[in-house]
Amino acid sequence: MGCQYFEPTDGGANTFTVAMPKLTFGRGALHDTGARASGMGIKRIALITDDVLAPGPLVATVTDSMKSAGIETIVFSDIRIEPDDDTIMRAAKFLTDTKADGVISVGGGSVIDTAKAALLIERHGGNIREYFAPPVGDGKPVPGPVAPHIACATTSGTGSECTSISVIRVNEFNTKFVVASPWLLPDIAIVDPSCCDSLPANVVASTGFDLLCHALECYTAEAYTKHLNVDNPNARQLIQGANPFSDLSAREALKIAGKYLARGVADSTDHEARDQLMWGASLAGIAFGNSGTHLPHAMSYGVTHLMTDITTTGYPVASPFVPHGISVIVSAPAIFKYTAEAQPDRHLDGAAYLGADSKGATPDDAGEVLSKRLIELMRATDMPNGLGGIGFSGDHVKALAESSFRQKRAIANAPRDSNLTDLENMYNGALNYW
Ligand SMILES: [Fe+2]
Repeated sequence: MGCQYFEPTDGGANTFTVAMPKLTFGRGALHDTGARASGMGIKRIALITDDVLAPGPLVATVTDSMKSAGIETIVFSDIRIEPDDDTIMRAAKFLTDTKADGVISVGGGSVIDTAKAALLIERHGGNIREYFAPPVGDGKPVPGPVAPHIACATTSGTGSECTSISVIRVNEFNTKFVVASPWLLPDIAIVDPSCCDSLPANVVASTGFDLLCHALECYTAEAYTKHLNVDNPNARQLIQGANPFSDLSAREALKIAGKYLARGVADSTDHEARDQLMWGASLAGIAFGNSGTHLPHAMSYGVTHLMTDITTTGYPVASPFVPHGISVIVSAPAIFKYTAEAQPDRHLDGAAYLGADSKGATPDDAGEVLSKRLIELMRATDMPNGLGGIGFSGDHVKALAESSFRQKRAIANAPRDSNLTDLENMYNGALNYW
């Protein structure tokens, strides 16, 4: 492809692949889950959810729909927010024991990621840690297909229903790692924006910044042509760097975040804004599933690793807990200031899609313009004031950088190279913004 950003390079990939589930979007879509499962030949289905959603109306809608379609449903809800390797192994054992012929996941990223990883272990055995990249795991590739999976998102952020990626906390290392394979892509994604009608403002804000960062990281990620070519096309990860398709969905997701994030947070009755954010989350998920994120996500893992005394209203989780979207956005303004130098046009465009006034801005201004717009959106949605707002100080910067530096793959997908000192400098710049 001859576009400037995707100029061929020596040894780099010269093709890109597009993959996404069959996606149904719209109010009422959850009511069709039984018919969807029936259409896949499923007679007995395992419903994976969390213990907050399990007794609620969304899961009831799905189980009723299954019943109407003559499908038996067995529920598993023993899942913590940010699932760990123990959760995965428990869920996999449940799948093995229930002998269901398909899975429907109903929840946010934690639930959908658990379903993907549990399906892998149920079909191919072993321990989930074997599939993490070295040195944490063995880097074992996912050998082949897993059982049918219908993924139903209930928050407007994760996009996990559209990706082949599962993010799992490893208790021994107290941080998160990724298992990614085209085989983990759900077969069907159901996105019903009515799921977000009752979400607290703070949850909409946090998940909204997750979607925003997915889109912005994909749009500014290193071009696929700079990723090494892979001899076996079947072995190629869908995390392949920015490409024309991920650009399409990332651009639209950025426009949606810029226009509707503050509105959706401010007013739970603003269905237009909340529905748009749900659509934006799926678009950003499609982008991220086909390109991969970079430094803001990589550097969020150090934050969740080292947080000590924080709880966030709207989440039924004991301290220490910081929602994923907040862990990503707190460092993002400082990170994009750093990466802008490598691809100023993409950073300026990203800022403009988010609604920044970039008239007259030069390439040298790109980092400042984008960072300023992110900070405006953070302030408009009552986000913490950088790392300092969630309990970190300059004393923590070295440890944060060392923790996040283990996320080699995501760091390598950034448009600008960074070493440990660069990460420390970015964290230092993220301590406070106002
Ligand atoms: Fe994310």
